Order: sequence, then C-alpha cells, then structure tokens
Amino acid sequence: MSEAFDQDRLVAQAADDDQETIIEKSLRPRTIQEYIGQEKIKNELRVYIEAAKKREEALDHVLLYGPPGLGKTTLAFVIGHEMGVHVRTTSGPAIEKSGDLVALLAELKAGDILFIDEIHRLPKAVEEVLYSAMEDFYIDIVVGEGPAAHPVHFPLPPFTLIGATTRAGLLSAPLRDRFGIVAHMSYYTVAELKTIVQRTADIFNIKITADGAIEVGRRSRGTPRVANRLLKRIRDFAQVAGQHCVDASTADDALNQLEVDNDGLDQVDRKILTMIIKFYNGGPVGLKTIAANVGEEVQTIEEMYEPYLMQSGFLKRTPRGRMATAKSYQHLGLQRPEAK
Ligand SMILES: Nc1ncnc2c1ncn2[C@@H]1O[C@H](COP(=O)(O)OP(=O)(O)OP(=O)(O)O)[C@@H](O)[C@H]1O
Ligand SMILES: [Mg+2]
Repeated sequence: MSEAFDQDRLVAQAADDDQETIIEKSLRPRTIQEYIGQEKIKNELRVYIEAAKKREEALDHVLLYGPPGLGKTTLAFVIGHEMGVHVRTTSGPAIEKSGDLVALLAELKAGDILFIDEIHRLPKAVEEVLYSAMEDFYIDIVVGEGPAAHPVHFPLPPFTLIGATTRAGLLSAPLRDRFGIVAHMSYYTVAELKTIVQRTADIFNIKITADGAIEVGRRSRGTPRVANRLLKRIRDFAQVAGQHCVDASTADDALNQLEVDNDGLDQVDRKILTMIIKFYNGGPVGLKTIAANVGEEVQTIEEMYEPYLMQSGFLKRTPRGRMATAKSYQHLGLQRPEAK
C-alpha cells in the first residue's frame, strides 16, 4: 500500500508522524548561533534584529522560501528567540476565512510573530485582509449580517509576519511586496551537513566518526531533515550489526541498503531520470507526464524532487519540458543518443 511506502520515504515532505514531529522539535536549534549554515541570511538577520531591538520596534515582515526540510520553521523560531518575542504558528490552508485570521491577529502582543507556513496556500479573501494588517497594522472587517452588518476598523499591535513557502512563484505580487525581508534558503554544503549530523548524533547519543558524518552529509540532498532521517536509519543498521560507532563504511553500507545512491539520489529520483531517458529519449517531458509515470503528485515532483535534481545537474528545465543531462546518463550507466 502506498501509505506504508510513504512511511518509508526519506525525502517525504514533512514529518511523517507525531513521533517524528516531536523528534524534529527536539532537534531544532534555538539560537542564531546554533543554527548551522545559511550564512548570508543569518548575517542579514542579525543586523535587522539588532536594529529592530534598538528601536524597540517589531522586526520587518520576513518571507522564507526554499525546498522542504531546509530549516524554514526552525529559523522562524530562532528569530522569535533572538527578538525575545512570542511566536504563534498557523498555516495557509488552516486559515479558511478572514475571521480565522482576525482571531489570530487579535491575540498578538506588540512585537509578536505570526508564523504562517505554506503561505502560498492562503485563500485570496484572507490574503487581502492581510495586506492592511501587514502594512498599517489594522484590519477592516464587516461584523454582523443583513441590515445589521456594519464595518469595524480594528487596530492591531505592531507585529511581525513570517511567511514560509516552498513556492515563492505562487505568491501574488502584492503579498510578496509587503515583506521587507525576503530570504531564499539554499541547499546546505557537505561541510554544513556534516556539522548538523554531528550535532544530531550528539543529541541522540550516537557515536559517529568525522568521515561517517561526511558520508551522511554528502548523501543527504543538501537537506538537514534528510540528513537527520538518514542518521537515524543508519543507527539502526549499526546497532543490528553490533557496531558502536558509525564510520564511513558503516554509513555507506546502510545507505546502500536504503537505496540512497552515491550522489544521494533515492529510488524516486532514479525512476524520474530513467523514465525520461528510456521512454522519452532524454526529454523534453512535461511535469504532468513525469508525475503520472512515476506515480507521484505533480506538486511532490515539483517541490521535492525536481529542485534537487536541477541543482545537482541531473535535470534541466527548458521551455518545452524537463530534460535529462549528460550527468544523468552517466550516473545511470546509460548510453546517450548521438543526435542529442
Ligand atoms: N540550520 C540548521 N541547523 C541544524 N539543524 C537544522 C537546520 N535547519 C534545519 N534543521 C533540522 O532539520 C529539520 C527540518 O527543519 P524545518 O522543519 O525547519 O524545515 P522546513 O524548511 O520548515 O521544512 P518544510 O518545508 O517541510 O516545512 C529540523 O528538525 C531541524 O532539526
Ligand atoms: Mg516547516
């Protein structure tokens, strides 16, 4: 069944279940100092946070965008911690009506943060209420129904909106323009992932050598969530094999068994590339066709698989569709047609 398969997925979008959510929370760095990588974003944020604190103002609204598992939610809480304010969280799809948003906003104290995850999925009517809230800290709502309906002007305390999205392109221009700070999260380097793996190993009491941590980092698709997941699986393999310490070869063995290949690609990644090459002669192929062929949602392919495959040079986006690159042929050991 596909659910069982999903449980097993290493790249899966969010935390799989409640237990994993708890683990993710326990692994979240709390301070900017503890937050590894994303140096450019951190440096900018340090300045903005210090300036806002000096002026005793709310921090400007922040938009965080990037692929799943790169630390957007984590960073929102880090910002809250550094500002010394409360963070209220919600998500785009959870706010169905403007009334829901008003209720959330009404609870904020001066300087507080409202974190809206998946902000690209906010209903249009709610988004429009957000404009004046973000810009001038008020909302105009209509109270009552029928002849008794009347407009109410509702002032808000100055607050910070932090929006997170995997799809900045889906945000309307008026919403995007209202964020003073826009941070594009990038994939982590192997060195950064190594540090993240070592930190997680510490928290979980797992012994790992420097080479072991590099091996996990190298095969984690630039993504801390994946690195943490892989490490947990590798620990199980090591335990069963009676090994006290995870070194590069233990990590390599376990990752091979998990079918995470030498470049960190999993079965779905390879299925995508193989299919483009074998069925479509290397492409171009449309996204819908890819999704149908590998049995995944278009959104899953677009948000989770494609960005990493493009970033690491396996896939190319052209106006006519996606194409497999020479690197893909080489990786899969397939012959590239001459004419291409
Ligand atoms: N910079 C970092 N340093 C250390 N650990 C990190 C960092 N960024 C993320 N992590 C770890 O990765 C996990 C996933 O991060 P987080 O939930 O913040 O990702 P996200 O970008 O919000 O993902 P999604 O798009 O699915 O909501 C967290 O549990 C955290 O432990
Ligand atoms: Mg998140």
